[in-house]
Amino acid sequence: DWKMDSFTEQSIKDLKAKIGDKKVLCALSGGVDSSVAAVMISKAVGKQLTCIFVDHGLLRKNEGDEVEKVFTEQFDVNFVRVNAQERFYNKLAGVTDPETKRKIIGEEFIRVFEEEAKKIGTVDFLVQGTIYPDVIESGLGKSAVIKSHHNVGGLPDYVDFKEIIEPLRDLFKDEVRKAGLELGIPERLVFRQPFPGPGLAIRIIGDITEEKIKILQEADAIYREEIANAGLDRSIGQYFAVLTNIRSVGVMGDERTYDYTVALRAVTTTDFMTAEFAEIPWDVLGHISSRIVNEVKHVNRIVYDITGKPPATIEFE
Ligand code: XMP
Repeated sequence: DWKMDSFTEQSIKDLKAKIGDKKVLCALSGGVDSSVAAVMISKAVGKQLTCIFVDHGLLRKNEGDEVEKVFTEQFDVNFVRVNAQERFYNKLAGVTDPETKRKIIGEEFIRVFEEEAKKIGTVDFLVQGTIYPDVIESGLGKSAVIKSHHNVGGLPDYVDFKEIIEPLRDLFKDEVRKAGLELGIPERLVFRQPFPGPGLAIRIIGDITEEKIKILQEADAIYREEIANAGLDRSIGQYFAVLTNIRSVGVMGDERTYDYTVALRAVTTTDFMTAEFAEIPWDVLGHISSRIVNEVKHVNRIVYDITGKPPATIEFE
C-alpha cells in the first residue's frame, strides 16, 4: 500500500543521508528482520554494506545456500558467508545440556563474527534488525529467565564500530514483512517462520552428531513441504521436527529395526509467550509420517506433540 511505499522510500533516503560514504556492517542470520534491514541499507548505499552470514551448520536443509543465493544474486552488497560448521560441531561434541549448547553456540558465533569483522577493520555503522516488539520485550526480559535467548542486543560489545543503525525499530512484524515484499525480497524469506539462533542444536535432544543433523534436516524438510502443500504454512505460527533421543523397535519388510523417533511440533500463537498446539488434520499428519519413515533412514516412529505452552515450551530444549 502507498503508506508502506512511502515508508521504505523515505527510510532509504534517510539512510543514504545518514550513512553518506561510510562503511556499514551487518550480521545476517537469514531471518526476516536482519534480511529486511540489510536490504534496506543495501538499497541506500550498495557495497558500502558488508553482510556477514555465519553458517554454523545447524540450519535447516538448504537454508544457507538459499540465503547466499538471494543476497549474492539479487542485491548489491558485499556478502561474506563463513562456513564454520566444523568449528561448531567440534565445540558441541558430546554436549547434552540445552543451556550449555546455547552458551557454546553464542560464544563461538561471537568469535567467528569477530574474526571476520576484524578483516574488514573499523566500520562506522553496525546494523541491527531490532523491531518494535524486541524493544519492548528486552525491557521485560521475561523469556530470558526460562531460556537464554541471545538474539537481542548481543553484538555491539565485540565489534569495532561507532554507531548502531536500527532501520526497523518502529515496525511491527507484519510491517516488516510488507517492507520486505516492497523491497523485492522473495516471499519464502519474508514469511519465514521464526528460527532460533542455536538452530537445530536445540531440536536434537541429547548430543549432536553430523548424522543426527542430517536426519533431522531431511525429516524437517518433508514436514515443511507437506504443511505448505496442505496450505497451512501461513496459519501455523511455528512448526518443526525434533529428533528425540529415543530409539525404539520397529519392523521394515522382514527386518527388525531399532531407530529414532521424530516428534512433530506445530503451534499457533500471537506472541510466542503462550501457545496452543495446532490442530493439523489427521490425514495430513498421516501422510507426513509415512513420507518421513519411508524417506529418511534411521527413523521408524513419528509422534505429534499435543502440549500447549505452558506447561511445555515451544522448542523441546
Ligand atoms: P520457547 O521454546 O521458549 O520458544 O517456548 C519461544 C520462541 O523463542 C524461540 N527460541 C529461541 N530463539 N534463541 C533464539 O533466537 C534461542 O535460544 C531460542 N530458544 C527459543 C523459539 O523458536 C520460539 O519462537
